[in-house]
Order: sequence, then C-alpha cells, then structure tokens
Amino acid sequence: MERELALEIVRVTELGALSSARWIGRGDKHAADEAATTAIRSMFDSVSIDGTVVIGEGEMDEAPMLYIGERVGNRNGPSVDVAVDPLEGTEVVACGLHNAQSVIAIADKGSLLHAPDIYMEKLACGPELAGRLSLGDPAEVTLHKAARITGKSLSELTVMVLDRKRHERLIAILREAGVRIKLLGHGDVAGAIAAALPDSDVDLYMGSGGAPEGVLAAAALRCLGGELQGRLLPEGPAEMQRCQQMGLDHPARVLSMEDMVGTGDVIFAATGVTSGEFLSGVRFIGKERAETHSVIMRAQSRTIRYIRSIHFLPGKEIPQIAAARQDAAWM
Ligand code: FBP
Repeated sequence: MERELALEIVRVTELGALSSARWIGRGDKHAADEAATTAIRSMFDSVSIDGTVVIGEGEMDEAPMLYIGERVGNRNGPSVDVAVDPLEGTEVVACGLHNAQSVIAIADKGSLLHAPDIYMEKLACGPELAGRLSLGDPAEVTLHKAARITGKSLSELTVMVLDRKRHERLIAILREAGVRIKLLGHGDVAGAIAAALPDSDVDLYMGSGGAPEGVLAAAALRCLGGELQGRLLPEGPAEMQRCQQMGLDHPARVLSMEDMVGTGDVIFAATGVTSGEFLSGVRFIGKERAETHSVIMRAQSRTIRYIRSIHFLPGKEIPQIAAARQDAAWM
C-alpha cells in the first residue's frame, strides 16, 4: 500500500468525526451514527483503493451503507479489506461523554477477520509484553508475568478495563492484586490502543467488548508493535450459529494478531469526536471553522502521526452541516 493512502484515509475519519460531532449531547445516538456513516460513505468514493468492507455497519440487509461486503473506493488502487466504525461510541456522543472516535483500518485483501457483532474477551499490551502473555492464563498469572517482564511491582502496573457489571469479578481480582485500574466508560478501541502507545501510562487492557472493535484495535496494535489476543464470547445458539456462518467453527479458540489482521501492511486512522484516551474531540470555532485531532499509523513503518486540522466548514461537503445552515437561513 502506498504511504500516501494514510493521508487519504484520515481525511475520511475527519469528515466522519465532524459530521457526528454536531450531535454531541443531543440524545440521539442513531442520528449521530447516521451522520458519521453518511459522511464516511460519501468520502470513500474519492479514496484510491479497491476496498471491500469486512467490518462495518452490519450485514447488507441490516445496513444501508458500509455493510459487510460493500465495495468502497474509486477502484484506482490496491485491493484491500476495510474495517470501519464511523462512530465508535454512539452512546458517548448522544450523552456528550468521553472517548468517541471515527475509526478506519485498511489491510491487504483477505487479511482482516470477518468478526460477528458479539462480545470478545480481549487482552492487549504494548511491544514490551507482546508475544509474552496469554489470554488463556488466569488474570492473576497475566499480572504477575507482566510485572516480571516490565520490572515493575504489581502496584506500579496500570490496567484499563471497561466499567461494566460483567467485569465485577475481573475488577475484584485486579484490586486484590493491587494494580492500578483505569475504568473506561466506553470506547474500547481507544482503551486497547492506550495499552500500546509509547507515551501511555497503561500497561494492559483486559476484559470484553465488541468483537468488531477488537479487530479494529488489533489493526492499530499491529502498527504499534503491540498485541491483542481475542476470544469470541457467543451467547446462546443464535450467536454460535452466526460464528459458524462466518467460518468460525471453533469460537472458543484464542485469536491471534495473525488471525485478526494477517501479516501484511495495515493502515489505521482515527479522529476524535469527543475527547478521550489519546485524541481530543472536535471543537467548533465560531460559525465556520472546526478543529479535529487524528492519529494515523502504518504497520510497515510504525510511525505514529498526530494531525491537528483546522477545517473551513463551508468548503466541506458535510451534508448535515449544510442542512443546518439552510435551516438557519429560514430563521
Ligand atoms: P458503540 O459504538 O456500538 O456504542 O460501542 C461503544 C462500546 O463502548 C465499544 O467500544 C465497546 O466494544 C462496546 O461498546 C462494549 O459494549 P457494551 O457497552 O455492551 O459493554
């Protein structure tokens, strides 16, 4: 993949973030998601790829846009798999909370796991711990291994976990071990990435979240030299059948980085919608400008680029903002 593609991709996540940010705190998560999805879908047409959506808004009969199997891009570039979450944190935006992002990963064709929309147990870490931990180990064993490898005491380790009732037992184990815990409200793509960023204070990301988000996070961790191991958690026969339909005959097996993102090149881009673990959210400035913060990374170079952009909104094709301006003109 050409390195210039990374800049094309971040323009797409920027537009997704700008569009959904208009819905911050307005209590309508569907509108926020639709705004991001519409903007991202329209922008994809200009990107120089022949892409197939592998992780998206759902199956073809569930989602009008960015559905699984949809072709995106102007076909004037490499054949790639696309994983996209136009708005990672729909509830976050609806309630005006922290840690929502627009996220896209692209990878060589055939390399991204077609993950069902069910929960996945995850263990994520940075380069120092990559390849040295196992999701199959009990949490206590993982903590002791991480402490030994990093040379830290247990009380110097920081573990990030989604703040959910289902994690009560895990959190009790972490507290018993004496590690620091950062509880995350939403947005476990950002949570997993936090465990692998070189300037982060998080050592491990543990617990369960969405499986599609797991693949997106794994793509980012490939670019960072970190690792995410995942295990699908199908609940009931319907989810089990869904796994099998997607070719995952042994859902209880631990999925490696190779299973989720392959071994080829990966480009990952995210733009903050609301401020979170490592990106600031969209800031509207006056009537015509807005600021976005994004990150782009590429597995081949492992460069991490942060981009702060000041957008001139009248020059942008943002359908919802144009509509709002039209409404305003009537008032
Ligand atoms: P949405 O974008 O679907 O709202 O997901 C937000 C999120 O926090 C994800 O980051 C995470 O994987 C998932 O929800 C966790 O699900 P739940 O809120 O059911 O625990």
